[in-house]
Amino acid sequence: MNILLLGSGGREHAIACKIAQSAHCKKLYIAPGNAGTAAVGENVMLNTSDFEEVGRFVLDHHVEMLVVGPEAPLVDGIADYFAETPALHQVMVVGPRKEGARLEGSKDYAKAFMMRHKIPTARYQTFTADTLKEGEAFLDTLKAPYVLKADGLAAGKGVLIENDLATAKAHLGEMLGGKFGSASASVLIEEYLSGIELSVFVLTDGRHYLMLPSAKDYKRIGEGDTGLNTGGMGSISPVPFADKEFMKKVEDRIVKPTVRGLAEEKIDYRGFIFVGLMNCAGDPYVIEYNVRMGDPETESVFPRLKSDVVELFINTARGTLDRCTLSVDQRTAACVMMVAGGYPESYEKGKVITLGTDVDDVQVFHCGTKRGKEDELLTNGGRVICTTALAATLPEALMKSYNRAAEIEWEGKYNRRDIGQDLLKIMVN
Ligand code: AMP
Ligand code: GLY
Repeated sequence: MNILLLGSGGREHAIACKIAQSAHCKKLYIAPGNAGTAAVGENVMLNTSDFEEVGRFVLDHHVEMLVVGPEAPLVDGIADYFAETPALHQVMVVGPRKEGARLEGSKDYAKAFMMRHKIPTARYQTFTADTLKEGEAFLDTLKAPYVLKADGLAAGKGVLIENDLATAKAHLGEMLGGKFGSASASVLIEEYLSGIELSVFVLTDGRHYLMLPSAKDYKRIGEGDTGLNTGGMGSISPVPFADKEFMKKVEDRIVKPTVRGLAEEKIDYRGFIFVGLMNCAGDPYVIEYNVRMGDPETESVFPRLKSDVVELFINTARGTLDRCTLSVDQRTAACVMMVAGGYPESYEKGKVITLGTDVDDVQVFHCGTKRGKEDELLTNGGRVICTTALAATLPEALMKSYNRAAEIEWEGKYNRRDIGQDLLKIMVN
């Protein structure tokens, strides 16, 4: 079949590589894609927020499956548009409809869902400009650090964690006053969870599910998890502390009630659920849901999938995921992200990249890259390119990934040198 994948990051390059390997894939289009996806399929310039334009392309090119990488088209209802447009409703869509996408689009909605289905998460309350005083009073009842979250999508910047009570109250006022536009018209105040974070990925057809390998990402720009938040500076899969016992708790306490909750509430959900978790002394708590795969978690999770992903996607769309099992490479994957100098603040684009030589068991995924006039490879974003190595052990995977990353060059290139080091320490202790 012909397949259209939406997105342009490393996540999409990693997904595209797996789709292209499938026996079911005749032709893969990626919109808009990057220089990496152009090598595994055909990039097409579509405005992915214009659903009519996407729909026209799908009809003109006999596309039978739409795979949605990022959350924005899902939150805006692309799956509903396809389901409700007669000419398009046969197209299989991997990605939830608008109602399900609210699990990511509204933190208040996600929390209320968790409450209804008794899914462990931090205690919270939600406030608006009209209830600012009550919000301040709620902060008085909590201990530092204080966690404030904009309800809506705020480009990953909507969460503030503050140690000082007076500053936390000031932040609350600013957020409700429009700091993140309409995204912070409602603000959640949450109890602080202390522990180690990890991500668990689920593929569901709304009734059945498969649990994908766990992963951990590294969000801060600086080594030792310091400095500004980024999209993610690297990832590891699997997470060594997410052993069988812990993952069973995740499945029983979080994944099962989540999928059961969606079914009970008649939410038609066919796609990925990315559960951001905190491991608090061996017990999992949900920090957030996302309705897509993570980036750069996908770059370490997808290379480990041995199953035919299009087969999984077909059964996801048809509601027959119970027919599938997942086959996973038992090796560890380590992904190192390389970014433009200055990122996540202002940075330049258009620097010429030299790629170095490919080696076995290391994949190079493109994120913000494009081809220049002479077909030269150019930087085209903050997160530019990453290397993922597979090896028997985490130290080996890290070494191979870093060795390959060292061969990739452009002016201003930066990467963290400590990806996975925290996990090595935990493994030693
Ligand atoms: P979110 O956008 O909800 O994933 O939050 C961004 C980051 O803030 C998370 O990845 C956590 O590191 C942190 N965070 C969010 N909520 C909490 C919480 N209740 N306790 C501790 N850290 C949190
Ligand atoms: N790496 C975190 C995310 O994709 O949201």
